[in-house]
Amino acid sequence: MNGLRLIGTGRALPAKIYDNDAMTAFVDTSDEWITSRTGIRQRYFSGEGETTSGLAIEAAKKALDNAGIAPEQIDCVLVATSSGETVMPSMACIVHHALGLRADIPAMDVGAACAGFLYAADMARALLLAHGGHYALVIGAEQMSKLLDMSDRNTCVLFGDGAGACVFALEPDAEYESVFGVRGDMAIVAGGPRREQPMAMEGQAVFRFAVTAIPQSVNALLERSGKTLEEVDWVVCHQANQRIIDASVRRLGVPAEKFYKNLDRYANTSAASIPLALDEMRESGKLTSGMRVIMVGFGAGLTWAGMMIRA
Ligand code: UT7
Repeated sequence: MNGLRLIGTGRALPAKIYDNDAMTAFVDTSDEWITSRTGIRQRYFSGEGETTSGLAIEAAKKALDNAGIAPEQIDCVLVATSSGETVMPSMACIVHHALGLRADIPAMDVGAACAGFLYAADMARALLLAHGGHYALVIGAEQMSKLLDMSDRNTCVLFGDGAGACVFALEPDAEYESVFGVRGDMAIVAGGPRREQPMAMEGQAVFRFAVTAIPQSVNALLERSGKTLEEVDWVVCHQANQRIIDASVRRLGVPAEKFYKNLDRYANTSAASIPLALDEMRESGKLTSGMRVIMVGFGAGLTWAGMMIRA
């Protein structure tokens, strides 16, 4: 099948880390509550002069370097984000200009909240197939801090800022499966684009949804591909809550080590969380060429998406 192979990754983070104790300056909370309910220990929040597109550009440059691909070889650029600094132009256009990509390629943003990176990657594949290209630059970049009400303890401790970027190559024999879902009737995570409409969330309902969506997506990908979970090297879920990942591990009956986790250090970075994880995994040598990876994203919409590729 014409599938995507992951050939390069990069990430970028704001300068400043806020540990759980630092969050007590904003709301009535504690390290004990945040750690035990979520597994989160710290997050990055942007400061003066740091923009979502700045993070996206830095991550993208690193991904191109890592892939050994020149900017002019990129055949489409997609940015998954809910927190760009402008509605127009799209962040993809800002990245396009900063990187000096070719003028004859599609560039656009994708809005599917925390599932956005996988929606964007699937759309990139479709664009490459339709137009005959070979390399896609797909970025997840967020400044969730812009969307948060820092006086709402139900949300402000859960999210963080960051960007991850991937270069994918479309290859004729590469394995590829993807699944998608949406429940537009469940607008239980909502907010933005301005601080006057901060993000609000029915946390427990999202939790229940997530622990069903992850196993369902994984099982659907396995069924379509004819593979078993034993044949999959890694499952990379959207990094929202340690307890969501633990519950999914239990429901699927797999070793917990198969699920990559880094939410303790970044909190929930929405569309950036999966590419951030992929970059860390490649950098540390945990994800090597040929490994089979399942990714699952879920979030506001509600939307969810699963994808199986080989690195
Ligand atoms: O990207 C996808 C989007 N979101 C998610 O994936 C979120 C999914 N949901 C969750 O991760 C969890 O439901 C939460 C972490 C949001 C909440 O955990 P929970 O175990 O479901 O807690 P809860 O909502 O049942 O709240 C328990 C208590 C409440 O107090 P009372 O009513 O029992 O007195 C809350 O007011 O914890 C209180 N609480 C806090 N206490 C200290 C809520 N937030 C905080 C806080 N610090 N930050």
